[in-house]
Amino acid sequence: MSARQLAIFTCSSLLFASLIGASGTIILPTRYQVNAGFTNYTSHGNASCFTLDQTNPLVTLDYGTEIGGFPFFDVDSLSGAVQIEAKYTEPMTGLDAPFGDGPWTFANGLSNTFRVETFNVTSTGRMESFFIQGGLRWQNLLLLTEGSVRICQAGIRSGNDRTPVNELPGFFESSNDLYNEIWALGPRTVQQACIAANTAPSTWEVTADGVYLRGQQPAQSVMGASFANYTMTFHTKIIRGGTGWKVATGVGGFGPYFVLTSEYPPGSTFVNTNRTIVPPNTLAVGYGWNLVNQTSLTTGKVNHYPLPFNVKEGDWYEVSTTINATGYGVVVNGTEIFVALDDLQIVSGSTGGSGSLTGGTWGFGPYQDQIALVRDVEVHAQNGTLLYENPMTSSSVLEEFGVMASNHSVCLDGAKRDRLVWSGDFVHTYRVIQSSTDRSDFIVGSLEYWLDRQASNSSEYSGYFSMSPAMGQSAKYVNTYNAFGLLDYQLFFLQAFAGYYRHSADQDFVVKHWSQIKEGVEAVLPLIDEQSGLAVATDIGAFFSGSSNGTAVSALLADTLSQMAEIASVVGENDVAETWTRSANSIKDAIRDQLWNAQLGFYAVDLSDSTEQSITGSAWSILAGISNATQAESSIAALSALRLGVGYKTSTSVANASTTDLAPFLSGFLLEAILQVSRNSSQANQSRATAISVLLDQLWAAMVNQDEYYTGGTWEYVYPDGRPGLDLYTSHAHPWSAAPTYVLTEYVLGIQATSAGFSEWAFRPAMLDVNVSWARGRVPTPNGPIRASWQLGQNGTVQLNVCAPKNTTGIVSVPFAVQSYTVNGKDGTVVKDKLDVRVSGGSCADVYIVRK
Ligand SMILES: *[C@@H]1O[C@H](CO)[C@@H](O)[C@H](O)[C@H]1NC(C)=O
Ligand SMILES: *[C@@H]1O[C@H](CO)[C@@H](O)[C@H](O)[C@H]1NC(C)=O
Ligand SMILES: *[C@@H]1O[C@H](CO)[C@@H](O)[C@H](O)[C@H]1NC(C)=O
Ligand SMILES: *[C@@H]1O[C@H](CO)[C@@H](O)[C@H](O)[C@H]1NC(C)=O
Ligand SMILES: *[C@@H]1O[C@H](CO)[C@@H](O)[C@H](O)[C@H]1NC(C)=O
Ligand SMILES: *[C@@H]1O[C@H](CO)[C@@H](O)[C@H](O)[C@H]1NC(C)=O
Ligand SMILES: *[C@@H]1O[C@H](CO)[C@@H](O)[C@H](O)[C@H]1NC(C)=O
Ligand SMILES: *[C@@H]1O[C@H](CO)[C@@H](O)[C@H](O)[C@H]1NC(C)=O
Ligand SMILES: *[C@@H]1O[C@H](CO)[C@@H](O)[C@H](O)[C@H]1NC(C)=O
Ligand SMILES: *[C@@H]1O[C@H](CO)[C@@H](O)[C@H](O)[C@H]1NC(C)=O
Ligand SMILES: *[C@@H]1O[C@H](CO)[C@@H](O)[C@H](O)[C@H]1NC(C)=O
Ligand SMILES: *[C@@H]1O[C@H](CO)[C@@H](O)[C@H](O)[C@H]1NC(C)=O
Repeated sequence: MSARQLAIFTCSSLLFASLIGASGTIILPTRYQVNAGFTNYTSHGNASCFTLDQTNPLVTLDYGTEIGGFPFFDVDSLSGAVQIEAKYTEPMTGLDAPFGDGPWTFANGLSNTFRVETFNVTSTGRMESFFIQGGLRWQNLLLLTEGSVRICQAGIRSGNDRTPVNELPGFFESSNDLYNEIWALGPRTVQQACIAANTAPSTWEVTADGVYLRGQQPAQSVMGASFANYTMTFHTKIIRGGTGWKVATGVGGFGPYFVLTSEYPPGSTFVNTNRTIVPPNTLAVGYGWNLVNQTSLTTGKVNHYPLPFNVKEGDWYEVSTTINATGYGVVVNGTEIFVALDDLQIVSGSTGGSGSLTGGTWGFGPYQDQIALVRDVEVHAQNGTLLYENPMTSSSVLEEFGVMASNHSVCLDGAKRDRLVWSGDFVHTYRVIQSSTDRSDFIVGSLEYWLDRQASNSSEYSGYFSMSPAMGQSAKYVNTYNAFGLLDYQLFFLQAFAGYYRHSADQDFVVKHWSQIKEGVEAVLPLIDEQSGLAVATDIGAFFSGSSNGTAVSALLADTLSQMAEIASVVGENDVAETWTRSANSIKDAIRDQLWNAQLGFYAVDLSDSTEQSITGSAWSILAGISNATQAESSIAALSALRLGVGYKTSTSVANASTTDLAPFLSGFLLEAILQVSRNSSQANQSRATAISVLLDQLWAAMVNQDEYYTGGTWEYVYPDGRPGLDLYTSHAHPWSAAPTYVLTEYVLGIQATSAGFSEWAFRPAMLDVNVSWARGRVPTPNGPIRASWQLGQNGTVQLNVCAPKNTTGIVSVPFAVQSYTVNGKDGTVVKDKLDVRVSGGSCADVYIVRK
């Protein structure tokens, strides 16, 4: 039994507070505003007490940068019982929206679905939300009722790290303040989007009276995924406002949603209850994700069916829902309401759905601010056979409904949403961690989370790892959750596995998981088309980062196979390594032979259109070593045709529209590719300098320079005018957009492992095309940090300094031709215009260079 459940069973809020309150760090706002103007927030004395009353009912809190955790406030005094509405948002602009920047209807997320919640304040002391708010910068507290309340501390109790970026194991600093700010976006993002084990409790509470559910996105049983045309019956007691459930839904939660509301007794009803969406004594029914729309997550219009009696709070009702071919028959204590399919707006949205109006499982979750108990669930087939029963009083329901407390350290796609453990996103995330926080528990934890979730041999996805398991879901049900289908996410996952080994030399980890990894690689070999020799999607899925027979996905596949061949060598499977290397090389040749457009000077997006280019095609043809130097140069020059607003659109045929989403996830690959070419080129190049500048000084600068959207984290998408893409839905702490952090560390500071675990490494900065005149920093390695700095001097001189951890060797090089140099004051030998400087473990080198 967890501490949390224990607290519920003893019904002691005091015990609850002492057990749970002990964990996490208290994060306070940096400033707050009660009427005009912000005041700095101070935690000592009563400098930051504020009073909300009829004249000044609203306080806005600014946490400065992204933070996730349990919001709380300490009530110092109050005139009588009051209601306070809290609103949370990443961008400041969300404070003006009725639902903040939410709600998050794609997944339960072990967090609050809603960005607006209301507190019933009846006494002094701490009020703390039951739910985690995944990530926010801004918060409002609004007094809704008469009276006044004095609050003397307000903040977030957080299980996330918020160590200042300059104190992290990895650090980067340069002459360019903007680039330093861009570097810092990455660590702040992974600090909030990676969730440590045992810091995210269940969103459900199990009691002897059934499950006690507060308003949240319904969570679904895995037991009914293949059921159809059944009757689901349960008993429910509304504690406040209403109760909610789903039937005929996908385990992901897309399907019809039913909310039964109470009569709203004045004493126990929040005055801000939205009676348009959920009127009293009503069955409200929507189809889709929830009862409200959220950007691309559409929900059909909400139908209202009034009950012919008053629905009481505190009384038990029996509710059954019968699925048939024309609709859903809902019976509440003997009164039937038929919800005809013809009356519903059936929106499409296959992700998360059952693909059927009559088939799929059931779930439970009341609407915003409602609370209800649910118990004694039974499911009967049309012929009356009992298919399922569950009293809902045992903690085993948490596993069945996928809302177990998280006991794995994992990185999510974003702090506020989807809060799924997306594998593809991790291709950038793990490298940001390696360059900054050095939290290998998150790298190992995330990799193992996917490794635990590999499709079984009987599945069509055999060998594939789940691409987006949720926190709270059991690995046991990986086939039921069926979260597969983005084929290149498997490749990104394998890249991360290889990249973890490259930095850690953790051979035990490779050996332990080798057989699964081998199956994971074998699963992608059928993507190679026999005819073209390029990568093509099969009927089990699609690619996210490029098209079939295309440069991007083929080069990514080839590069992944090359890297996995190195992993095969680590375990001594040299035949396997050779086979994979051969496949990789033949894909690379196929790309060179068929996709290079010599007239336009780029690798074409795919075989079907040789005139179309893409940022991922250009990026991956370089990163996979397919482009030669002249091809790389002309591909980078050709990027100018993809310019759109503050960045590059993903490919030629994408519309030049103000609503086109620029993709920092994909642009991250491009940034690395350009820096790689720059580092390997002896001359400066205007196209490269321009492209680097577009990406850093415009695209990523947008995330730094606009305070109304700033969170200190990286944004999921960006509009051409520099605002966050996807409107309020956009995650402002999405590590998939944080590539500049590791690119600046690996290419501008210039430290990279060249053999596993940094036993050998390179100090090889790109100095010619980047607007930086000096850089310094540290890079964590298993043997301690590498500290390095470089500075351009007058008259073509350059100074570099680096210290090698024990048992490692570093090789120093610079892109340009060298005339002469000294190491620690002694003259060095110039070999073919190059340095010959090795730094051995435990020593430092001061290198002073005169350029040719
Ligand atoms: C408020 O805090 C900011 C940032 O720490 C600081 O620069 C400023 O001087 C402070 N203002 C006052 C009035 O203390
Ligand atoms: C109530 O819900 C409606 C429909 O979604 C919305 O337009 C309105 O802004 C909401 N009102 C409040 C006060 O939140
Ligand atoms: C607030 O709490 C009081 C005291 O427990 C209770 O009587 C009242 O119903 C609650 N109101 C709401 C809106 O939950
Ligand atoms: C959601 O938006 C769509 C149009 O985009 C509309 O048809 C639908 O009725 C809306 N649903 C709700 C609940 O407002
Ligand atoms: C609903 O029916 C149950 C029996 O199934 C009964 O115990 C309960 O009192 C009824 N509730 C109301 C509010 O009538
Ligand atoms: C579905 O149930 C409703 C209400 O019980 C009934 O009127 C309707 O005829 C049923 N439809 C089918 C196809 O059985
Ligand atoms: C439910 O029953 C209807 C009518 O009998 C049938 O057409 C439909 O295929 C069934 N649904 C499923 C998912 O089997
Ligand atoms: C009743 O329906 C269930 C589920 O469709 C089926 O498994 C069972 O065999 C049926 N029983 C009878 C007696 O027809
Ligand atoms: C890939 O290219 C080959 C050779 O042109 C062709 O046979 C195949 O249909 C293409 N596949 C796809 C999915 O485009
Ligand atoms: C690069 O490839 C192109 C096209 O295949 C070829 O014409 C060129 O000579 C190559 N350049 C170098 C430097 O190898
Ligand atoms: C750079 O070169 C110029 C001209 O040769 C010379 O006057 C100047 O002193 C040099 N500066 C430094 C810092 O060496
Ligand atoms: C260096 O390597 C030696 C031999 O492998 C080992 O004994 C020693 O502990 C290592 N030192 C450090 C600092 O890792």
